[in-house]
Amino acid sequence: MKYDLIVIGGGPAGYLGAERAAGKGLNVLLFEKRYLGGVCLNEGCVPSKALLHSAKIYDYTKHSDQYGIKVTDSTLDQEAVIKRKNKVVRTLVAGVKGTLKRNKVTVVEKVAKIEKKSSDGFVVSAEGELYTADRLLICSGSEPIMPPIPGLHEGYQKGFVLTNREILDLTVIPETLVVVGGGVIGLEMASYFNSAGSKVTVVEMLNKIGGPIDDEISDLLRKEYEKKGIMFNLESKVTSFTDKSVIFEKEGKNVEIECEKVLISIGRRPSTKNLGLENIGVETDKRGAVITDRFGCTNVAEVYAAGDVNGISMLAHTAYREAEVCVNNITGKKDIMRYTAIPAVIYTNPEVAMVGETEASARQKNMDFEAVTISMKYSGRYVAENEGGNGICKALREKSTNRLIGVSLIGNYASELIYGAAMMIESQMTVEDLKELVFPHPTVCEIIREALFAF
Ligand code: NAI
Repeated sequence: MKYDLIVIGGGPAGYLGAERAAGKGLNVLLFEKRYLGGVCLNEGCVPSKALLHSAKIYDYTKHSDQYGIKVTDSTLDQEAVIKRKNKVVRTLVAGVKGTLKRNKVTVVEKVAKIEKKSSDGFVVSAEGELYTADRLLICSGSEPIMPPIPGLHEGYQKGFVLTNREILDLTVIPETLVVVGGGVIGLEMASYFNSAGSKVTVVEMLNKIGGPIDDEISDLLRKEYEKKGIMFNLESKVTSFTDKSVIFEKEGKNVEIECEKVLISIGRRPSTKNLGLENIGVETDKRGAVITDRFGCTNVAEVYAAGDVNGISMLAHTAYREAEVCVNNITGKKDIMRYTAIPAVIYTNPEVAMVGETEASARQKNMDFEAVTISMKYSGRYVAENEGGNGICKALREKSTNRLIGVSLIGNYASELIYGAAMMIESQMTVEDLKELVFPHPTVCEIIREALFAF
């Protein structure tokens, strides 16, 4: 049977792209080699949020007296936490399966490989069978970077070194955990295992944690976690692993830390190996990322790519939108991907969220801007719900246009309110116009209104 569209990969970009394309009347085939829902649903965004929510509840029980509640005893039952996490994953994966079925997407749970372009269309093989389609949408995602550091691969084979995949299934909390890489995955997992009782050490190559987040917010987050007992080694590069330790270079010296488990979270790279891209001449960059334009097109006509595989933003919510852009262009509605207002969140406790420019990125682009920083204590609800919280909200406006160009926050509910700031940036309304918006009271999102009035 010939299809209108073959989608390779069933993560957020793939399943949403397949669903949307089928909804527009295309006959769609989706290949998935591991599990529907991809990394996001099965071993990334969703399961980590389930774990972090359990940790948050556990933390509340430990500090409930601050809110006038006495809890005499509480324990974190890791097996029960994992069981619940698995239930959450099952529910959401079932939802994806149901949606694909309702939209009449044909799902083949096999490894797909692009074979050639024939006169009949693109030919894709899976376990000896051939499938043909007029167009391809490549959504094969990404995988953890595992550099050739001595001892890393041996440690991984022995279960001493873990990636985001294995760590989310640990049923026993390790006494000691070294997290290599203080980026998003590293910090979220450091946060969970710190709450759950592990002695956690983060080893980060740069002089700050959290990658591109605002420097002051990065500092606040680190200090918050230092208070909770996490140890940070910044400007420290891991050089090797033994059977039971991590060795890194810090200030010109070799430091060795013994631990029960190691998490390696030093970034992800696009998954394009063995896809057969070379068989039809799809261009990739040095990292192996499929090169796309703002329409989601590759260099080969009728071949599109969306999600982590293009290496641009590597976030599930970016993947959704990129897939929509591809499908719209495939089905005749011109659509273009914009990357200026994509929110990013770190689900630590407190949460960190940002959208648009930070002071550092705006300076790098030579933008003429004004930045304001206000305490989250300007929000009544934040004060009512966050004993001892010292969050901040930073907002940036471009002077020449008087438009909002960036917002960064540290403080709980940041994850839920950042989209409002993204809309303000996308809308290109002036700060004066934005000041006329009415916010619900009392809410934490009012902090954005306070920031606007601080300009
Ligand atoms: P990342 O790129 O966020 O952070 C990796 C960190 O490792 C960087 O700070 C880097 O300086 C450091 N590093 C690299 N080599 C090192 C070495 N040899 N020694 C010490 N430190 C080293 O990557 P991460 O945390 O693995 O996340 C991967 C991807 O998953 C990201 O693209 C992220 O956006 C996505 N993700 C997003 C989440 C969210 O939106 N909340 C949650 C989890 C993952």
